[in-house]
Amino acid sequence: MPTVKLLFVAGSTRVGSLNARLARAAAATAERQGHPATVVDLADYPMPLYDGDIESLGGPPEAAHRLLDVMATHAGVFLASPEYNASMSPLLKNSIDWMSRVRTPEPSGLAVLGSRVFALGAASPGGTGGMRGLIGLRYCLEMGLSALVLPEQVLVARATAAFDDDGALRDPEAADRLGRVVARLADVAGRVHA
Ligand SMILES: Cc1cc2nc3c(=O)[nH]c(=O)nc-3n(C[C@H](O)[C@H](O)[C@H](O)COP(=O)(O)O)c2cc1C
Repeated sequence: MPTVKLLFVAGSTRVGSLNARLARAAAATAERQGHPATVVDLADYPMPLYDGDIESLGGPPEAAHRLLDVMATHAGVFLASPEYNASMSPLLKNSIDWMSRVRTPEPSGLAVLGSRVFALGAASPGGTGGMRGLIGLRYCLEMGLSALVLPEQVLVARATAAFDDDGALRDPEAADRLGRVVARLADVAGRVHA
């Protein structure tokens, strides 16, 4: 089986973020499956709230260029996004919006993002696992960026107690589900970028 470089991003920079834990668990899963995994912390890519006047003055922030460069070197991207009032992470949305405005150097932000393969996950202390937040994120990626998003996704409900001390999912069924989604991400991303 060919190895495929995969990127793991959480839509929260909060200390103790459940979604960061999910992103790290997914990355560890990918490594176990033989795929090189990179974990990105969006705290290392600070961007102002999107504002057309900021863009007119100086273009997208350098962090948007840097994050896009990282995206461009990974065929598949796993996004672990919290749900806020039934919607997607504003941090993730803002990062995506800025990256989509990168025009130069080529390839553009839209070209890079639109050619990635995405898998989605969410973790929430509540019972629905952040599922509703992924609806908006999926819509943004598919309709806004024309990206391929796997139909399979990972939901971790009652996530405060879901991870063990090593950061792995305690529930064998949930861990198995995560393994299958990561494997499919590698498979599809590998074929799209073969
Ligand atoms: C403004 C706000 C709205 C929230 N809305 C939801 C929600 O609709 N559904 C849900 O499951 N959790 C909701 N939560 C709880 C988050 O899922 C929880 O804070 C989670 O831990 C955030 O992700 P993180 O741990 O990765 O930072 C909300 C939290 C905040 C602060």
